[in-house]
Amino acid sequence: MAITVRDLRALKQRGERFVMLTAYDYPTARILDEAGIPVILVGDSVGNNVLGYDTTLPVTMEEMLHHCRAVARGVRNAIVVGDMPFMSFHTSIDEGVRNAGRFLKEGGAHAVKLERPAIDMAAAIVERGIPVMGHIGLGPQSIHAMGGYRVQGRDEEGARRLLDEAQALDKAGVFSLVLEGIPAELAGRITEAVSTPTIGIGAGPHCDGQVLVINDLLGLGFGTYPKFAKPYADLRTVITEAVRTFGEDVAAGRFPDEDHSYH
Ligand code: KIV
Repeated sequence: MAITVRDLRALKQRGERFVMLTAYDYPTARILDEAGIPVILVGDSVGNNVLGYDTTLPVTMEEMLHHCRAVARGVRNAIVVGDMPFMSFHTSIDEGVRNAGRFLKEGGAHAVKLERPAIDMAAAIVERGIPVMGHIGLGPQSIHAMGGYRVQGRDEEGARRLLDEAQALDKAGVFSLVLEGIPAELAGRITEAVSTPTIGIGAGPHCDGQVLVINDLLGLGFGTYPKFAKPYADLRTVITEAVRTFGEDVAAGRFPDEDHSYH
C-alpha cells in the first residue's frame, strides 16, 4: 500500500523506527520499493555518487529532475523525495517555490527536501501543499562555509542553535527532519523536542528513522567510507569479479556457448 507523509508521523507516535535510502535510477528505486523501503530520497548526493563531481555543489535542477523521473518510474509505494540542489532555493521565495513545484510536476516526486534551516522557505512551500523534509546539521551544500565536512552542534551554543532550528522547522510544518553529522545525545534531545519524525545520518541511534546513501550501504564507494556509513554488501568487488570473469570467458572462447547462441 502506498505510504504517505502522515504514516511517518504515526510511526513516530507508535515509537516504530523506519528507514530512508537514496536512489538515483529506475532499477535501484524499484528494488528498494519492492523491498518495502518507505521513503526514497533522490539526493543531490547523486553528484558525488553517480555523476563524478567532487561535491554536491555543481548539481543542477535539470540533473535532479532527470534522476527523479527515473526513480519515480520505479516506485509504486514509497514516498519519493526530491532534494533541492544548491542555489535552487537560495535567491527568493518565488524561485524556491517554483523549483519545489517542478519536482512534483516534472520529477514525479511526492515531496522535496531543503538542506539548510530555511524556515520561511519551508513554510512557503508547505503552504502551497508541497510536503517538505527539513535537513539540518552538517549540510554538504555548505562545505566551504563549514570549512570541510565537520560534525555540527558540539558546543552548547551550536547545540542550542540546532535545537532552535529544529523547532522552527517543526512549527513551519515539515513532515520530517534529517539530522546529519551531529552528536547522538543532541539528536536525541531534538527528536524528543519536535513532533515531526527525525531521520538521522551520522546522528546516532536516538532518531525516529535512519538514512544511508545507497552506494555506501551497497559497498559501491571509492576510498574510505565515513565513520557513520556501514556497507552491508561489497558490490564493488562483486561487479569487478563479474566483469573480469566475462572478459576471461570471452578470451577463452567459453562465452557465448550453445545456451546463449541462436541458430
Ligand atoms: O543527498 C543526500 O543523499 C542527502 C542524505 C545524505 C540525507 O541529503
